[in-house]
Amino acid sequence: MSVHHENLRKVTTQRLLEMKLRGEKISMLTAYDFTMAQIVDLSGIDVVLVGDSASNVVCGNRTTLPITLNQMIFMSESVAKAVKRALVAVDMPFGSYQGNSREALASAIRIMKETHGDCLKMEGGEEIMESVKRILCAGIPVMGHLGLMPQSINKYGSYAVRAMDGEEAEKLLRDAHLLEEAGCFALVLEKIPAKLAKRVASELRIPVIGIGAGNGVDGQVLVLHDMLGLTQDFSPRFLRRYADLKSVMTKAIGQYIDDVKSGDFPNEREQY
Ligand code: KIV
Repeated sequence: MSVHHENLRKVTTQRLLEMKLRGEKISMLTAYDFTMAQIVDLSGIDVVLVGDSASNVVCGNRTTLPITLNQMIFMSESVAKAVKRALVAVDMPFGSYQGNSREALASAIRIMKETHGDCLKMEGGEEIMESVKRILCAGIPVMGHLGLMPQSINKYGSYAVRAMDGEEAEKLLRDAHLLEEAGCFALVLEKIPAKLAKRVASELRIPVIGIGAGNGVDGQVLVLHDMLGLTQDFSPRFLRRYADLKSVMTKAIGQYIDDVKSGDFPNEREQY
């Protein structure tokens, strides 16, 4: 385990840029509550993302679309309270920025004021550029997100790899450059060919963080529940499971139930 207690200097967007320049890879994981965020931060992660994947793993929805701005704010506030070192990024949920750029800015300001997160993540390129620019103008750092954009699942029809054909790959490259030129400080690329992701990372000055985008990028992100093995019904090729916490928890809870039923818990030392 990489515990970096000695290195408590806060991670900033500027430090991520410096990491890219040094060739140091960026580590990023999601978290959605105080306790988990504290563990992730103390483990030495660089970026904690309050992802709208909370819609799936916290709220039990089939897609990321139903999660609301209020729900994202509720979770992000707890995460930001827990995190001392990592950069805290908050996903703007579906519907909070696609309408018009004034509404997008209002959503962004609510997130920043009410959660104390450090920056926002938004899915999309050219289509959301006006909103991205307006939010950046307010001094709020934005991380872009291209490739598989789960908020567009109803357009795609499946979670298959994106940008496999030339046209979509060209658009992704164009969008990546547009986001950098607009002033985004980093970019997430989800589920695209490794070769394309490597090209984007080499053409951009800002850090490119991949999920299912191969090893040629500047950092990696995974959903915490997936990499810890809390979820078991989601097994894409890119997911490496580092633990089987579902089994650990099931065993511990089963033992507790047995102890309660048998009268073994609480024993004399566990009562007053
Ligand atoms: O919502 C999320 O967890 C994400 C990551 C998968 C990048 O956007």
